[in-house]
Amino acid sequence: MMRGKFIVIEGIDGSGKTTQLQLLGDKLKARGVPVLHTREPGGTRVGETIREILLSPASSDLVPRAEALLYAAARAQHVAQVIRPALAAGQIVLCDRFLDSSLAYQGFGRGIDINLLERINEPATGGLVPDLTIVLKFCAEDGLDRINKSGRSFDRIERETRAFHAKVGDGYLVLAGRDPGRYSVIDANRPAEQVHQDVMTAAEGVLNEILTADSGA
Ligand code: TYD
Repeated sequence: MMRGKFIVIEGIDGSGKTTQLQLLGDKLKARGVPVLHTREPGGTRVGETIREILLSPASSDLVPRAEALLYAAARAQHVAQVIRPALAAGQIVLCDRFLDSSLAYQGFGRGIDINLLERINEPATGGLVPDLTIVLKFCAEDGLDRINKSGRSFDRIERETRAFHAKVGDGYLVLAGRDPGRYSVIDANRPAEQVHQDVMTAAEGVLNEILTADSGA
């Protein structure tokens, strides 16, 4: 069986990535593509428990290195239990955040050395690299305003300063610039349907073979 494809969506809090991943998943499913939708931190029973520790405002004393290790631990569980088996079964894995979230938030945001983060994450990913990473480019200020307007309370990371979120947003652009072939940076400061068109085009680029095989069936 053909190995599946691994597509990740990244962006600052409030950039609309969860909505975009949902729209992409629905569109692919309607075309008969076997899609597995998952997220980080989480996606497994253990990972969801780690997520609670990470996002709870009660963990306000968590030190940056412990934070980085917990994200990596959740990732190790997720890769082993969910992502690798799904790819081996030929599924298209759509993942809300992956390693680049650690590089952007713990690296560019908290100031932990990027090389150290890559080393910490090696045992977690085992070298697994997404086929495509979509970065939604969105102003940090607007992202936080959007969450504010939604009425839900801010989690521990969202409570960070606007300057922190702006550093994360800039960090994503640096990461995408390191390896442009593997990333698609999309301006998310537009109506969701327009953003979706670009997300779809980017995904079609890596799913070409699968979509063609599918329509010919
Ligand atoms: P997310 O699920 O996008 O939050 P929400 O469901 O509230 O939109 O992500 C949770 C938070 O964790 C988000 O602020 C980004 C942060 N994060 C990191 O700091 N490092 C990581 O490695 C990951 C995966 C997420």
